Amino acid sequence: MAKELLPDLSDLVVLITGAGRGLGRSAALHLSRCGAVVGVADIDGASAADTAAKVKAAGGQADSFTCDVSGQDAFAAMAADFAKRRGRIDAVINNAAFLKYEPLESVTEATVDKMLGAGFKSAIWGSQALVRHMRPDIGGSIINLSSPVIVRGYPTTLVYSAIKSAVTSLTRTLAAELGPRKIRVNAVAPGSVPTPGALGINDAAEYERRARTIPLRRLGRESDNDKAIAFLLSRDAEFIHGAVLQVDGGISASA
Ligand SMILES: NC(=O)c1ccc[n+]([C@@H]2O[C@H](COP(=O)([O-])OP(=O)(O)OC[C@H]3O[C@@H](n4cnc5c(N)ncnc54)[C@H](O)[C@@H]3O)[C@@H](O)[C@H]2O)c1
Repeated sequence: MAKELLPDLSDLVVLITGAGRGLGRSAALHLSRCGAVVGVADIDGASAADTAAKVKAAGGQADSFTCDVSGQDAFAAMAADFAKRRGRIDAVINNAAFLKYEPLESVTEATVDKMLGAGFKSAIWGSQALVRHMRPDIGGSIINLSSPVIVRGYPTTLVYSAIKSAVTSLTRTLAAELGPRKIRVNAVAPGSVPTPGALGINDAAEYERRARTIPLRRLGRESDNDKAIAFLLSRDAEFIHGAVLQVDGGISASA
């Protein structure tokens, strides 16, 4: 079997939100394998600590933080703590989200506020943290989590889809705003990865249907997304900026 070639990210200090489980945890482990020092933030502090322990057990370097990333002050304090420990922050992965699908009539203000905080406001605070703690001479990188829902209307996903569209728009706006300061801003748009959060909104039958209909005829894997993020952080992607990289087996292309 061919040896897996990992990009060299050993000069990077990377903060990942929502990294206590799912795609965020997997990205933390993979980026660490590529040599990065990772900051693992999650509202569920025990899960964040567990991710950091797994990174360290595999020989990597990690700090974990209990943080509700929807709050500007809480995010800023957590990022400052991480930057103080590690000297700087070179990249932020705005991964956290609260996933919920429900029909229009069921949507409450409390749900909208919670989803906006976890999935959209946090991406603004994460971008601010990168600007504040990066090395201005070297630059930095922001990666947001988009989704195939931005290209097509899926019933019952209105709040989630609107947030993912907003995060995608933020990616392009900040690419224009921050590019001159050597900050690359991109998004990954994974598709149909049955993470703990996703399994809470899609049942097994839905995933079986998707595995049959996705053009590449399988579900997404955490590792698909990990590799895309590592590539976007690597020097090989030095001129890739403002992009939405679809990692979805063709879902978006065939929508
Ligand atoms: N799984 C998929 O198929 C898929 C597809 C497209 C996009 N995404 C995106 O990928 C990202 C990760 O999704 P996932 O599937 O791993 O979900 P998940 O629910 O399994 O993980 C999300 C993590 O975010 C944390 N979190 C939630 N609210 C938070 C808050 N306020 N502060 C700090 N942490 C908070 C949770 O505790 C959890 O650990 C999300 O942005 C999601 O929209 C996932």
